[in-house]
Amino acid sequence: MKPESFAFVLFGATGDLAKRKILPALFEAHRAGLLPADGKIVGVARGELNEAGYRDWISTHVREHLAAGDIDDPAWTDFLSRISYLPLDLSAGADFMALKAVLDGVAGVRVLYLATGPSLFVPTCQALAAVGLNRDARVVLEKPLGHDLHSSNAINDAVGELFDEDQIYRIDHYLGKESVQNLLALRFGNVLFEPLWRREWVSNIQITIAEELGAEERGEFYDSTGALRDMVQNHLLQLLAIVAMEPPHSMDSDSVRDEKLRVLRALKPITSQFGSTMAVRGQYREGVIRGERVPAYVEEKGVCTDSTTETFVALKVEIENWRWAGVPFFLRTGKRLAGRMAEIVVNFRLVPHAAIGTTGSDLPLPNRLVIRLQPNESIRLYAQAKKPGEGMNLASVYLDLAFDQFFRQTQMEAYQRLLLDVIHGRLSLFVRRDEQETAWKWVDPLLRAWGRGEGAPKPYAAGTWGPASASALLAQHGTCWLEEEN
Ligand code: BG6
Repeated sequence: MKPESFAFVLFGATGDLAKRKILPALFEAHRAGLLPADGKIVGVARGELNEAGYRDWISTHVREHLAAGDIDDPAWTDFLSRISYLPLDLSAGADFMALKAVLDGVAGVRVLYLATGPSLFVPTCQALAAVGLNRDARVVLEKPLGHDLHSSNAINDAVGELFDEDQIYRIDHYLGKESVQNLLALRFGNVLFEPLWRREWVSNIQITIAEELGAEERGEFYDSTGALRDMVQNHLLQLLAIVAMEPPHSMDSDSVRDEKLRVLRALKPITSQFGSTMAVRGQYREGVIRGERVPAYVEEKGVCTDSTTETFVALKVEIENWRWAGVPFFLRTGKRLAGRMAEIVVNFRLVPHAAIGTTGSDLPLPNRLVIRLQPNESIRLYAQAKKPGEGMNLASVYLDLAFDQFFRQTQMEAYQRLLLDVIHGRLSLFVRRDEQETAWKWVDPLLRAWGRGEGAPKPYAAGTWGPASASALLAQHGTCWLEEEN
């Protein structure tokens, strides 16, 4: 049932995530009329701001993350009227009593959004529970949840003593992207693809999340994290699970999450011997991005000058089950790459017998399905067609499922969708504890090997597609990374 009211408590209210993602998403939802009318947003942070001060802070800092002109929109003023602020010291029980007093004045569901570092998750949850604010509330935990299996289990155990699993929303914003939902619609809403979605017809699958950005203002955090924890353990493995899962019985949260879990459990374990042949680690050096010279990773603010943290990872992953045995899944992510792009490429096998196009450049190419998550969300199916004119020659063409043109409706941003899901109590797009634990279990041997100094990162120039060994990883399988043109 649609709630008529809610209280959304934002811990870390003046942090980077709050200003870049959470507050803009709440504003967009408000502007589109999707937020329950009586909902309130309570910003919580250590700083001694008052309500007017926090609203000013939002107007100054959130502005640049909205589309131009939005700030003058009357909807903005209306949005600000939903917002209040409470300075809060984690160790002060009285501050949590004050928060409780504020929340007692707001009807409806309570959302406790912890947009803070993971080291604050447990003390915050304990302080909330001490004043009874864990009851009937939904707690949202941002990634990274811990930095390895052990620390993530410790957080999950402690939070699990205070909140039931169905009160816990572990956010992975990649699951909120429109194309990921469309991938599910494509696979499970059509008969065309599912029969081909298996080892007999698929030769390999590539999943790339490439960024042009570097460590930015998060150098210190990033340097103790690295790409494997920041992007692979969560976003890439979640995308892999969605691509490879069996059809769920329904779209309810546990059916979808059970199927993803089965995939994660079937990942071929990383042994020390396998690790060195299936993983490439890189770190960017100085280079050029969009015509601008950018510094090397080790020159970024907050990064150790002798850092061995990886800013690039490429992996060959195998899924040990009947559907996918023998099909390599290539995953890759990196900062300061040649473009900002996230996509899933399903490479099908060649026709078993080339009756048409048997010579030179006319040889038929395999079919390919490209699911683009960003910059523009689309699905493109490459097929072979006859070249116009005399004779029977083949050429590769594509069918474009350009949703923006078809639906003529702005696509919802991932955070907006996920925040609305929390308010409405929909858990399907949030990561369940067992999924998260299984993903950590899988990456842990690689983390430990790299922690021991094995597999030092290979250098790559900023503005390229990563170290050459990432291409060699695919060349062993007779293929190469495919970077889609727009
Ligand atoms: C975050 C990572 O989870 O995802 C960041 O911590 C990364 O390092 C970001 O930049 C990428 O998200 P998007 O949606 O911009 O591709």
